[in-house]
Amino acid sequence: MRIILIVVAVIAAIWVAPVLISEDSGLKFGVSYRVLFTLFVLFAGFLFYLLRAPEWKPFKSTPRAVGSVGLVFVAVIGAIVLLANVSPQFASEGQASTGASSGERGKAAFFDPGVGCFLCHTVATSGGTRGPDLTHVATVAANRRPGLSVEDYLKESLFSPGAYVVATFDNIMPPFGDRLSPEQLKDILAYLMSLR
Ligand code: HEC
Repeated sequence: MRIILIVVAVIAAIWVAPVLISEDSGLKFGVSYRVLFTLFVLFAGFLFYLLRAPEWKPFKSTPRAVGSVGLVFVAVIGAIVLLANVSPQFASEGQASTGASSGERGKAAFFDPGVGCFLCHTVATSGGTRGPDLTHVATVAANRRPGLSVEDYLKESLFSPGAYVVATFDNIMPPFGDRLSPEQLKDILAYLMSLR
């Protein structure tokens, strides 16, 4: 019954460790979190117990042992995510960030591999070099095309990049007008406008 010993040891650690962490570290584990983790450990222990029941004989081969651990892992993570979505108290970060501003969402889109801006463009220190560095693009944009406002120039850069090709670069940027949703385009524009 090694599994029971492990479960008891982990639960003891959950209740003792937070006392040992100093307040200054910024880590706080309230009672609700400890109860929650205790329940998860009990749940995981129970699953392991089930998987080891004699009629299953699952731990006789390495792949089965690995598979069992994987299964319990997925089940426990699944339970945590489910609970996070049911109880706002334990809300995952994804939910918390729905309050992000348009510019923040634009930044996330810019660095999203599915959108791909950062693959060619650098902002601050991260990104590619096939396109111009955009760290100060809202400032640079003011002098790109006489008669076009900063916002209009940046819009044009997204919808028809070929209309003005920055010197020393090739005309390789794809137009994004029909690749992204109007929301995403608006957010990315807000982000670019903030890069002064
Ligand atoms: C395949 C590489 C590539 C991707 C992907 C790409 N760009 Fe570009 N981009 C370029 C190149 C090269 C230029 C310079 C040539 C030109 O002006 O068309 C450029 C120019 C720009 C400019 C004008 C910069 C200036 O200094 O005038 C902006 C703004 C811009 N891109 C934003 C974006 C945004 C936002 C995304 C993502 C939605 C993106 N780019 C995706 C390659 C890319």
